[in-house]
Amino acid sequence: MATTRDSWGSRWAVIMAMAGTAVGLGNFLRFPAKAAANGGGAFMIPYLVSLLLLGLPLMWIEWTLGRYGGGFEHGTAPGIFHSVARKNRFIKYFGVIGIFGPLIIFIYYTFIESWTLAYSFFALTGRFAALSDQVSMQSFLHGFQGLERNDFFHSLGWAYLFFLITFLLNIGVLFYGIRAGIARLCQWAMPALFICALILVGRVLTIGAPLAAHPDWNILNGFGFLWNPDFSALKSAKVWLEASGQIFFTLSVGIGVILTYASYLAKGDDVVLSGLSTTSTNELAEVVLGGSIIIPAAFVFFGPLEMQAIAKSGTFNLGFITMPLVLNQLPFSAFFGFCWFFLLFLAGITSAVSLAQPCLAFLEDEFDLNRQKAVAIFTVVAFFLCQPAIFFLGQGVVDELDFWGGTVFLVVFALVETILFAWVFGMEAAWDEIHHGADLRVPRIYKFIIKYITPLFLLVILGLWLWQEWIPIIFMKHVAAEARPYIMGTRIGLAVIFVALAVLVKLAWHRKGRKLEEPA
Ligand code: ALA
Repeated sequence: MATTRDSWGSRWAVIMAMAGTAVGLGNFLRFPAKAAANGGGAFMIPYLVSLLLLGLPLMWIEWTLGRYGGGFEHGTAPGIFHSVARKNRFIKYFGVIGIFGPLIIFIYYTFIESWTLAYSFFALTGRFAALSDQVSMQSFLHGFQGLERNDFFHSLGWAYLFFLITFLLNIGVLFYGIRAGIARLCQWAMPALFICALILVGRVLTIGAPLAAHPDWNILNGFGFLWNPDFSALKSAKVWLEASGQIFFTLSVGIGVILTYASYLAKGDDVVLSGLSTTSTNELAEVVLGGSIIIPAAFVFFGPLEMQAIAKSGTFNLGFITMPLVLNQLPFSAFFGFCWFFLLFLAGITSAVSLAQPCLAFLEDEFDLNRQKAVAIFTVVAFFLCQPAIFFLGQGVVDELDFWGGTVFLVVFALVETILFAWVFGMEAAWDEIHHGADLRVPRIYKFIIKYITPLFLLVILGLWLWQEWIPIIFMKHVAAEARPYIMGTRIGLAVIFVALAVLVKLAWHRKGRKLEEPA
């Protein structure tokens, strides 16, 4: 086997790194946008049900499977799945999704992460300080993204420059590895992120009296929009799909990264309390902090209807158009604007490095490459793959990547993991494995939930989605005619990446031959 695998170094480092992967752009940008677009209180019930029946069980499953696979020196799903079901020759190919998913998310996530760094800089230098309406702030964003040429930006130059800086920062962290790179970054970035978030929540809570013309657009009603339950939407399959999709994305489960991070644990390390802490930290950041910034602020300045319309017009519009407009109207706007975008950047970088880690772990563990070589290969391949997301953003390439890599495959992967854990590994053995070295017992009801409810819930989500959506999606019914070649190209590219990864898995097993077939 290769050189000794890297490790986290301390429990604090693991908790911070796991919080780092979970707390991301999903918490502060995607969650408020999804909640607002789906009616606030109507979204929160399916969201909380999905958290308890999907998110938390999958968090424990991934921590446990990851630690188990790490014991066989496998840090990615093909090897981890193989360790669980040695007799099955095909199971490793299902594991390909656990490398494919994070790679696909990484290639568009890095670009969005770079916008947050650029906007931190623009906030400090006052580049958008004079803008006071949606139209001009939107033109600023579109000019920056290269979607239009206007008085603010003549080319994609600024966006590309910040992409290069961000990409190299991500790679720089990865170069130093698990303990000296990722763990070290998260140990300062996560506390800094929480400080920025608390400053912003404090600012939003003290916004003061509502506009005279709209006395009911006040902070309290802004919170009420999110927290007053609305049971009418429970019948809507779409709201359930959106809510469960958000749970996967925000907790980083069903992607493959928690598996990989957990593979660097030692055999006797706790996974129950740690998995619960990751989930709680993420939810604190999402519903308490993430839910107390954009939504109440946008509610006070724009009212519920316009806020919902903005959220529906694009996932990033509340964060990149509405928030800077709100902050521009407050004293010390440069400082608060910087806090907002730098908070997003910290959330972004700590998640982006985790999305790259499965690819690196695969090269290191299965091809015995050292860290430097693995990072060099990843840098070249990922840099090349990021380009379509940058140059064809306006043609819907990022949305298409997010749809397959960041939504559909997450549910499929989660289903495979749950069946493998509860039905192939077997619930009795799985229960013992979860509690190995545990600081806390998982409530017994979860034995039943993990075995029956979680897989059934996942099957229903997938089934409903296929039933309702497969025809319009396959035939690109919602795609404008001029964008279809780009969407088709993206789909072909995704298929090629998937097949290439499957071939690499085959090669790795061929290389190692019988060693992989024998129990360690
Ligand atoms: N879990 C990460 C996020 O929320 C991917 O952005």
